[in-house]
Amino acid sequence: MKLIDTHTHLYLEQFDNDIDEVIKRALENKVEQFFLPNIDSTTIAPMMDLVSKYPDNCFPTVGLHATSVKENFKEELKIVEQQLENNKFYAIGEIGIDLYWDKTFLQQQEEAFEYQIELAKKHDLPIIIHARKSFNQIFNIIDKLNDDKLTGIFHCFGGSFEQANKIIDYKGFKLGIGGVLTFKNSKLGEVLKNVDLEHIVLETDAPFLAPSPFRGKRNESSYILNIAEKLAEIKNISLKKIAEITSKNAENLFF
Ligand code: NI
Repeated sequence: MKLIDTHTHLYLEQFDNDIDEVIKRALENKVEQFFLPNIDSTTIAPMMDLVSKYPDNCFPTVGLHATSVKENFKEELKIVEQQLENNKFYAIGEIGIDLYWDKTFLQQQEEAFEYQIELAKKHDLPIIIHARKSFNQIFNIIDKLNDDKLTGIFHCFGGSFEQANKIIDYKGFKLGIGGVLTFKNSKLGEVLKNVDLEHIVLETDAPFLAPSPFRGKRNESSYILNIAEKLAEIKNISLKKIAEITSKNAENLFF
């Protein structure tokens, strides 16, 4: 059995003291591959350091995160472009729109998102989408820019059945399912009962959003197992089958 964490920020300072232990625990839980979404120009160096330490397990992506879109976003996007010319990346991410924390730069967030979708098309890479309180804005942009080749993940999906179907109808996109699925009172399980597993990939978003019973603590990639177990329970199939299908989905997307 092999599990894949399609979204984990293992290069952040929360892991500075024990990253080797964190990776060891993940491997013991059969979580063998980690896709590392970038945040902005300050996180590229620590991310690439981790990739050179664990080249068989860690796979970097590059992009400018919605919450890092500020006055200087055009310079930040130039750095993303330079990185794409010089290094191997597996996706453009994470990118998107976040209206939860701050709406000041909404227009710039939209511009940066569209620009990075065009970069993904140019480099033939999937996109990792961060959508927070912004499904309408994200959907408007994907409606406009989607084509037969564009693929990606709606990271941390927690929407309705209608929103899940809208994403599936784009053809190239998967739902990234994480710790929220395990929360008491989460309605996501009900939604996913009616979503075919071929549309789902697993993620932690570590160090954030730990699944229960670790809710509120630091998240880490070994907890993919807790998310996969919950999904197995909801879909009433074996953990092995969940691992097989979600890993195949992730590999098809990234490789
Ligand atoms: Ni993230």
